[in-house]
Amino acid sequence: MQKQIQKSEDKKYLEALSQKIIQLKNSRKAVVIAHNYERPEVQQIADIVGDSLELSRAVTRVKAKIVVFCGVHFMAETASILNPGKTILLPVKEAGCPMADMITTKELKALKNKYPKVPVVCYVNSSAEVKAESDVCCTSSNALEIVNSLKSKQVIFVPDKNLGSYIQRKLPEKQIILWEGFCPTHMRIKEEEILLSKKEHPKAKFMAHPECPQKLLQHADYIGSTSGMLKYAKQDEAKEFIVGTELGMIYRLEMDNPKKKFYCPSEHFICADMKLTTLGWVAHSLEDMVFEVKVSDLIRKKAKKSLDKMMSVLPKN
Ligand code: 13P
Ligand code: SF4
Repeated sequence: MQKQIQKSEDKKYLEALSQKIIQLKNSRKAVVIAHNYERPEVQQIADIVGDSLELSRAVTRVKAKIVVFCGVHFMAETASILNPGKTILLPVKEAGCPMADMITTKELKALKNKYPKVPVVCYVNSSAEVKAESDVCCTSSNALEIVNSLKSKQVIFVPDKNLGSYIQRKLPEKQIILWEGFCPTHMRIKEEEILLSKKEHPKAKFMAHPECPQKLLQHADYIGSTSGMLKYAKQDEAKEFIVGTELGMIYRLEMDNPKKKFYCPSEHFICADMKLTTLGWVAHSLEDMVFEVKVSDLIRKKAKKSLDKMMSVLPKN
């Protein structure tokens, strides 16, 4: 009983906050965008929900001058690099990406010195400074195409060693020079957890994000970005899926496919940084116009070149 009362109080509180955010959005003429890993209630109030690439493109397309970016710092930073005329707000200042912090410009410069003339492909989960030192960026949905588009046999890939190794296996003709970065969320899942989940749901297909290590990917029926998983789950005839990525994806998949079932293979599949953004912080962000993410002009111009190069390799839609 106590639990039920608590639940309905929580629901009322979230509804009141959602209303407040809608009013603030209208009065500020702002849009709220959210990554697929965000909390369900944050996804619900967002105008656009998507993967890293979709969100970068969406910010450029929207007319609104104020964008509240519910995600982590590198995502808001990327939005700001591509849209210097817009105010990009990150509701929680501390929401970062541990993988992005695993390489510094000093380390990247040293790597470039070790392999002169070798092009650098930089996963968007990186700082603006690292992007500025790279030749071209990529996301998990286009990494393969981007690396394949380069003439050079040797390619430096930073910072995700798992995504880099996945590309290496797909493109054996290339020689990928890896960096030791990784996503702690995708890295801490055990192979046994996947095998157990498969045993519990024998008819389910296993979809995995390429940020997972090979020992998990070897069991996957599908490997792709979060938006890739959405497409796969919709089109595939299977009715059940084990989801090898952050927990927030389950909500997104269930919304899109109400007749299909989605299972999370591990209770550890949570990105603490993505979960920092709550409705309270989104309302605070719109009310006080915080926390604006900006990049110095010098770094911005160089980082934009790497992002523009990525966009130029892709189809326009
Ligand atoms: P995508 O949504 O682009 O697949 O990226 C996943 C991720 O880890 C973002 O931090
Ligand atoms: Fe970074 Fe991993 Fe969280 Fe994505 S899921 S933001 S890569 S820590």
